[in-house]
Amino acid sequence: MLRYTDDMTEIAEDMLTGFFDGWPRAASSAQHLAVLRGSYRAVVAIDRAAGRAVGFVHMISDGVLTASVPWLEVLPAWRGRGIGTELMRRVLQGTEGFYSVDLLCDASGQAFYGRFGMAPVPGMTLRRQGVLDGDRKELPPETAQT
Ligand SMILES: CC(C)(COP(=O)(O)OP(=O)(O)OC[C@H]1O[C@@H](n2cnc3c(N)ncnc32)[C@H](O)[C@@H]1OP(=O)(O)O)[C@@H](O)C(=O)NCCC(=O)NCCS
Repeated sequence: MLRYTDDMTEIAEDMLTGFFDGWPRAASSAQHLAVLRGSYRAVVAIDRAAGRAVGFVHMISDGVLTASVPWLEVLPAWRGRGIGTELMRRVLQGTEGFYSVDLLCDASGQAFYGRFGMAPVPGMTLRRQGVLDGDRKELPPETAQT
C-alpha cells in the first residue's frame, strides 16, 4: 500500500535507503534528507508496509517564475507501477504560473517527461562527485557519468 507525502518532517534518514541506483557515488541518507527538506517542494512515495520511501522527487524554485527538478527516482523494484508519473504530477501541481520548469535527463527519459508537456532543449551542467558522502558504487565505466 502506497501513500505520498509532501511533508518532509515525516521522513527520516533510515527511510531513505537504496536510492541513487547506478550512480558512481551516492548522496548519503543525511544529505538526501537535507536536500528534500531544503527544497522548494518535495514529494515522497512511501510503502506503508515496509515503512520506507520507494520514490521521491524534489523541486527548487525562486517561487516566482522559474523552477527546476533536480532528481526524480523510483527504487528499481517499484518501477513501472505509475509511481514516477504520480510524483511528477504532484510536484508540477501549482506551477502553472511559472515561466519554466527545467530538468536534465538522458535521451531515453525524454518520452517520459514529454508526457508532462516538457520539451527537449540543450543544457549544461557542472558535477562534483566528491561532495557526495555516500558509498562509492562499483559500476562499469559507461554508467559512471551520472
Ligand atoms: C524514470 C522513473 C522515475 C520512472 O518511474 P516509474 O515509477 O517506473 O514510472 P511510471 O511507472 O510512472 O512509468 C510511466 C511510463 O513511462 C515509461 N518510462 C519510465 N521511465 C522511462 C524511461 N527512462 N524511458 C522511457 N520510458 C520510461 C514507463 O515504461 C511507463 O510507460 P507506460 O505507462 O506506457 O507503461 C524511474 O524509471 C527511475 O527512477 N529511473 C532512474 C532514475 C531516473 O532516470 N530519473 C530521471 C532522470 S532525473
